[in-house]
Amino acid sequence: MAYAKIEIAPSILASNFARLGDDIRAVEQGGADVIHVDVMDGHFVPNITIGVPVVESLRKATRLPLEAHLMIERPEEYIERFIRAGANRVLVHQESTVHLDRALTMIRELGAQAGAVINPATPVATLTDVFDKVDTVLVMSVNPGFGGQKFIPGAIEKIRQLNQWRTRYNGAFRIEVDGGVDAENTAQLAQAGTNTFVAGTSIFHTPDPAAAVRQIRKLATEALSQRV
Ligand code: DX5
Ligand code: ZN
Repeated sequence: MAYAKIEIAPSILASNFARLGDDIRAVEQGGADVIHVDVMDGHFVPNITIGVPVVESLRKATRLPLEAHLMIERPEEYIERFIRAGANRVLVHQESTVHLDRALTMIRELGAQAGAVINPATPVATLTDVFDKVDTVLVMSVNPGFGGQKFIPGAIEKIRQLNQWRTRYNGAFRIEVDGGVDAENTAQLAQAGTNTFVAGTSIFHTPDPAAAVRQIRKLATEALSQRV
């Protein structure tokens, strides 16, 4: 399979913004693969977080790939700015635009990796026609807007389905999960086909974020090696 690798993507939404650089270094030491940046506009989701200037600063603070998870209306208008600021991957919600195909194409044309995201109430079937235009499909396992929410177990079945369809459609995308990911659900998520694990609270709200990254990787890798 093209994306058998496990990736851990700490979500900085749960970090301490007053010492963001230190928090990034901690997860780098734990072997994080990508930094997940939650961009919220107060319209698409009921919260406001961070934007382009923070991605610019992060770009200078780490060599890890940066992924911008856009939870904003009219994402097409901001894609280019996030990529110019240093985002290597841009993730756009299926529900945020009627022109998902155009948005994904734009991301790739600008030289970044493209991701499509679905909310808990959005079926996987809404993405089959863009499977050839994505590097990542992100399944939300909480309703987006806030960190620290409870994992919605239905995401596991969606990931299983996505994994099967990836094979059937010869898809070459990663499967990513975001929301309430922790030591309890990591093994099941890995067995269902998840490649990229986004985690905020379960990494940054612990005394040792580096150890938390290692722990998620260990659980995911072990679960995969047990899979028949
Ligand atoms: C939710 C965000 C998530 C969130 C993850 O809207 O997209 O990335 O910060 O945080 P935890 O791991 O705390 O659910
Ligand atoms: Zn996110």
